[in-house]
Amino acid sequence: MAHASSYKPNTAVEKWFDDRLPIMRLMHDQLQDFPTPRNLNYLWTFGGILTFCLVVQLMTGITLAMHYVPHETMAFDSVEHIMRDVNWGWLLRYMHANGASMFFLAVYIHIARGMFYGSYKAPREILWILGVLIFLAMMATSFMGYSLVWGQMSFWAVTVITNLFSSLDSIYPGLGTTIVQWIWGGFSVGNPTLNRLFSLHYLLPFVICGLVALHIWALHVPGNNNPTGISIKTKADAIPFHPYYTLKDGFALSVFVVLFMAFVFYAPNYLGHPDNYIEANPLATPPHIVPEWYFLPYYAILRAIPDKLFGVMAFAGSIGLLLFLPWLDTSKVKSARYRPIYKWFFALFMIDVLVLGYLGAKPPEGWYLIVGRLATAYYFLHLLAVLPLLGWIEKPSAMPGSITDDVLGKKPVAAK
Ligand code: HEM
Repeated sequence: MAHASSYKPNTAVEKWFDDRLPIMRLMHDQLQDFPTPRNLNYLWTFGGILTFCLVVQLMTGITLAMHYVPHETMAFDSVEHIMRDVNWGWLLRYMHANGASMFFLAVYIHIARGMFYGSYKAPREILWILGVLIFLAMMATSFMGYSLVWGQMSFWAVTVITNLFSSLDSIYPGLGTTIVQWIWGGFSVGNPTLNRLFSLHYLLPFVICGLVALHIWALHVPGNNNPTGISIKTKADAIPFHPYYTLKDGFALSVFVVLFMAFVFYAPNYLGHPDNYIEANPLATPPHIVPEWYFLPYYAILRAIPDKLFGVMAFAGSIGLLLFLPWLDTSKVKSARYRPIYKWFFALFMIDVLVLGYLGAKPPEGWYLIVGRLATAYYFLHLLAVLPLLGWIEKPSAMPGSITDDVLGKKPVAAK
């Protein structure tokens, strides 16, 4: 949000610096004095929590890479070496593995918050699209990271997911197979594949850092949305980011870290799969190949469709459609607080995603398959039909005149 700079250099050195590279001014205006709606709830603390997760993944990841060996005959043993011989190696690895899960937990809450309060609507479309790109980059990064352990699940997950490209064979014979072998660097998943995955797993987090910088830039042009969805109108609607939200974010982060550490110290393998403690064996396929928990809803969508190519398209579409959310949702009202029907459909969509997540871990047969197909159908119905139609049909409820009116509990004005 464009606002007059309130930065005043205190010393001659600060002034000298400010005239040449006003980085202190930028920090002051964007992180300290930034006018922020006074009514943000705890769901707005997840952006800060995500930034923390990114830093933890970078720090633990870079240190792990000092001891990890990206070679098919040594990768698995090097991970065990980190766990047993490297000083604090077990802590680094458990923080990195559970940190990925925490990162996804936080990002799912962050996305759901955006969907509930309509934070993707104008003027925040680019901010949202950057978010979806970050999410895609996060998925690619964690998938590649998981493969590096070179356990049974790592190996077979890479085999299954890279093989998805072979579905292109039904469009042009041989095209898919050529792409898959190009990705593998051979005729099966092997050492060249592992090297590529390692290289890209190291690279992508820095791409995420760049995207996050753009994400925050795009946030600071319109400023934050808030639980009412009404923009800041007067000075009374806003408070400076520091100390109000630095404290609130700090408190929420502390609670989040307690949960994170509870996993790291008391249940470090709870979210993982035991088969990944068996070294990769190209000659023995595990009975059930399941991805990490955060991929399960998409995995369920992939398997709900009997045709391979259409399954892959549905899988890609389920995430790709999120890019168009700002235009699929036609309602003028942002916050679901004032959308009496959307509220319920939002809840149904959340339940739908949880059901898909549950089914993603089950074999695709019998009832699991039928419910999986229904849940997949609703996922697309929600995005492609419910959201556009509801904007036309729904009559929003009465809204407060401003953020301050809402905070002070003034009577809402009837919707036009
Ligand atoms: C590395 C991952 C991410 C980081 C570090 C991050 C960081 C942030 C931060 C610091 C904020 C401001 C505080 C807040 O509203 O919580 C924010 C806002 C926002 N983010 Fe993200 N974000 C990430 C991923 C995503 C994703 C995946 C999406 C959506 C697909 C998204 C959509 C949004 C939206 C719409 C807002 C604006 C909310 C508002 O104006 O109230 N972000 N993000």
